[in-house]
Amino acid sequence: MKTTLLVSAAVFCSCSFAALPAARPLPAPVRTGGMPLQQALNARRTIRSYKADALTDQQISDLLWSANGVNRNDGKRTAPSAVNRKEINLHYLTAGGAFAYDPETNRVTKVSDEDLRKWAGRFKAPVYIVLSADLKRAASRHYAVMDTGYVSQNIYLHCASAGLGTCAIGSFSRIKGGEKGKLLHDKLGMSETEEILLTHSVGIPDEE
Ligand SMILES: Cc1cc2nc3c(=O)[nH]c(=O)nc-3n(C[C@H](O)[C@H](O)[C@H](O)COP(=O)(O)O)c2cc1C
Repeated sequence: MKTTLLVSAAVFCSCSFAALPAARPLPAPVRTGGMPLQQALNARRTIRSYKADALTDQQISDLLWSANGVNRNDGKRTAPSAVNRKEINLHYLTAGGAFAYDPETNRVTKVSDEDLRKWAGRFKAPVYIVLSADLKRAASRHYAVMDTGYVSQNIYLHCASAGLGTCAIGSFSRIKGGEKGKLLHDKLGMSETEEILLTHSVGIPDEE
């Protein structure tokens, strides 16, 4: 009886832990170098065609950190946030699944095995970044929308500097009458108070 209980407990524990998504560390972001700012501003543009090449973990880490990573000991970020609410969250989508980014630990957690890129935009891109706001944490929706813009511009400037192409996509939520935005929200396991405000396609440019 005792052995049966122990075996059952062991099976229950291993099943429960197996169901938990494991957070995986990204390589440390490169926080030096890059293109001089004036050159990056001069190079910044929207790119909508990308090579099929997947991005490396280092490229993803540098991109997410530049977008909204922690850049000071007090936990503040590369993007400013109204009333320092830090309500903007990032996910990235690849052929191999969807991942949530934790800027505090530089770790990512797989939240879906599905390729969700088609729900984020129309372009054939190896990566999509999803920018969402936790409206419970935000000072207001108005501020959350503005904070999203700073993160988006960081993505644009990082891509210009790193030889990547990107397009901000506001129309993702209108694809199929808004169905895609809602579907992406649900498939990423977001709470009721989380709202996707923008997506970005990212990849190596395949155009002049
Ligand atoms: C908030 C926002 C939403 C956008 N949404 C889309 C979009 O849904 N589809 C698209 O192709 N481009 C979109 N864009 C890209 C703009 O069309 C692009 O920035 C504009 O044409 C100027 O080009 P540039 O970025 O190369 O200067 C968006 C840009 C912003 C800032």
